[in-house]
Amino acid sequence: TKRIPFISGNWKMHNTIAESKALAKAIADCKENKNNADIMIAPSYTSLAAVAEAVKGSKVAVAAQDVHFEEKGAFTSAVAPSQIKDAGASHVIIGHSERRSLFGDTDAILNKKVAAALKHGLTVVFCVGETLAEREADKTLGVIESQLENGLKGFTAEQLSSMVVAYEPVWAIGTGKTATPEQAQEVHASTRKYLSSKYGEDFASKVRIVYGGSVKTDNVDAIMAQPDVDGALVGGQSLVAEQFIRIINFN
Ligand code: G3H
Repeated sequence: TKRIPFISGNWKMHNTIAESKALAKAIADCKENKNNADIMIAPSYTSLAAVAEAVKGSKVAVAAQDVHFEEKGAFTSAVAPSQIKDAGASHVIIGHSERRSLFGDTDAILNKKVAAALKHGLTVVFCVGETLAEREADKTLGVIESQLENGLKGFTAEQLSSMVVAYEPVWAIGTGKTATPEQAQEVHASTRKYLSSKYGEDFASKVRIVYGGSVKTDNVDAIMAQPDVDGALVGGQSLVAEQFIRIINFN
């Protein structure tokens, strides 16, 4: 099975509404998509509605960078699944390492967020990844498995059929250090194997596992050449239209 590439940009805490609209428009207006990739961009909550409007009718999907698990109520600062949908998002990133390390998102909390997102028909981009200490202690594959096991606990293959898994080694995020294509492939292959044992071979052959962590115009081709790497979750270089468009059009 040849999986459709999934190229996504996480804008993190950047851009005004006007900047977000301009960037989104530049990406949506670009007709060049030689790999026929699915494209997703994740602006800040404040820009979600404007970005959704700006990319309307294009191939670009809009994601929130996080979501709360409650439906509504007294949860000051939190944003509900129905609210991000209302703003025009079809996708949501759950479990980004910055959420895990800076905002206390535990596997148990992430599990509730996945449940809430799926209930509202949002496509989940579920992030996993090991720290440098974990890699050096040779714990990488175990860490990824346990993040998947606990974060996705209780869902069936059918419920998770639209999910995208993002492997982002924490030590490669925003550091300029990229996992080598071989390191990425090793984790992606082992993740697919785990997902196969858990959800079946059919699921595992279809699920897209994308790589994140200092993906750039000059390393994307080698990373995308790996058989189990189905796309990218790009931070820094997704903030510049020409760079992100080059990444979408990887060779
Ligand atoms: O979500 C994106 C990742 O955290 C990667 O960020 O490309 O700036 O390293 P980066």
